[in-house]
Amino acid sequence: MLTARLALNSSTPIGGISRDLFGGFVEHLGRHIYTGIFEPTHPLADEDGFRTDVIELVKELGVSTIRYPGGNFVSGFRWEDSVGPIEKRPTRLDLAWHSKEPNRIGLHEFSQWLERVDSDLMLAVNLGTRGTAEALDLLEYANIRSGTEWSDARIRNGRSEPFGVRMWCLGNEMDGPWQIGHRSAEEYGRLAARTAHAMKLIDPDIRLVVCGSSSASMPTFGTWERTVLEHTYDLVDFISCHAYYEEIDGDRASFLASSVNMDHFIETVIATADHVGAAKKSSKRIDISFDEWNIWYNTRFEQVDKIEGISNWPIAPRLLEDVYTVTDAVVFGSLIISLLKHADRVRSASLAQLVNVIAPIMTEPGGPAWRQTTFHPFALASALARGEALPVTIDSPKMTTALHGSVPVLDAVATHDSDSGTAALFLVNRSPDEKIEARIDISSFAELELLEVLTLSDPDPDATNTMNDPDRVRPHRNSAWKRQGCDLTLSLPPISWTCVKFAKSRGE
Ligand code: AHR
Repeated sequence: MLTARLALNSSTPIGGISRDLFGGFVEHLGRHIYTGIFEPTHPLADEDGFRTDVIELVKELGVSTIRYPGGNFVSGFRWEDSVGPIEKRPTRLDLAWHSKEPNRIGLHEFSQWLERVDSDLMLAVNLGTRGTAEALDLLEYANIRSGTEWSDARIRNGRSEPFGVRMWCLGNEMDGPWQIGHRSAEEYGRLAARTAHAMKLIDPDIRLVVCGSSSASMPTFGTWERTVLEHTYDLVDFISCHAYYEEIDGDRASFLASSVNMDHFIETVIATADHVGAAKKSSKRIDISFDEWNIWYNTRFEQVDKIEGISNWPIAPRLLEDVYTVTDAVVFGSLIISLLKHADRVRSASLAQLVNVIAPIMTEPGGPAWRQTTFHPFALASALARGEALPVTIDSPKMTTALHGSVPVLDAVATHDSDSGTAALFLVNRSPDEKIEARIDISSFAELELLEVLTLSDPDPDATNTMNDPDRVRPHRNSAWKRQGCDLTLSLPPISWTCVKFAKSRGE
């Protein structure tokens, strides 16, 4: 068994945790909308055709702000197609996913659904096939009360109150050659600056996200961020990061260490943004919107799922329906630890995606909805990680990985909410085969009672949840811990993600 020593540090907090860190992402892609959240013929559908079983699971997951409607989809999307009488809405080709989009769900219907799941809307505008003018029309439609062409159209379409959308993405992954209308950093930077300037003339209270690189492995990563921010620094509030991880060619050790890559990615983007700010002599700070992150078996999509040819593009095909294992959920949990470790600068994040499409929630048409393995770390962290993020000093044994070099076997972050008197500690054991005994100095939580330790792990690291066995994998109470005053000793199985819950002692 390995041993690691940890110490929580409440005297130098990382920063306050934004609720937007626990955001989601819903794209018109595959069965996300149709037979995912919307299935009027389903026995559990409500009067508007939304699946109530899915609504309950989304609420349990605890998702704050939801990015919509894409993704790659948005770069060919005409938002006007998706408002007004449903019977008049056109069916369009979706070039991004080689599907057909019937536009039965649009801005109004999606907003109704958001009210039911108690989440806020984050809208992306199309800067692929469209430009500044259409983005302004959509902003006028969404946020202006009345008395103009588009605001009055919204009222005629049944919504008297503005949608009041606060967060807006200036396009999606505009560096990616697969993106409709992708551009050079210089071209995109100018377009994003023009659009941001005009959008803030309409509504100065909106917060804008400019596209960073679509991944840290893009050849232009780094220079893209610098160039785009040189054009937009004074006009935007966030730069986006996107990252997906998968186990490639059975290299489990590298996969388990994916969050080392995420840490580095975040720190590099912060350094680049701060460099641009310094060169501009600006006191303004640009934060990160990590608005796509997850495990995604993209290699399988490219080789198996992709729809080829020009005819018979389906409506709502089964696409990107990855089934997640225990190992996937542990890596996923370690990505949440990485986001929390950077809570001072990652002020918004969107788990990509939510239902059926690389998702924590799966559905069967006419059948049940269930939680994937990845549902659990998200739901626990969203419920428990409140207040401030606290750094944890870690002295851990290392493991060797092909992709990330030598990395600590254990990673951790703590959180503390002084309002409610609750706290939490999140830990990952990345070792594929060794248990770790973590010896933790919890003086920072000396006054708090340890309520419970929950661990996600399994003798079979490839175990999954399926329609027929939906609760095969879930966190279990871990009783392998001992507290003596401010010393906590905790045993973490190989490939495991753990959270420790603390609260004010009942006597106080
Ligand atoms: O989430 C799936 C796709 O991944 C999104 O549409 C795109 O933005 C990214 O490449």
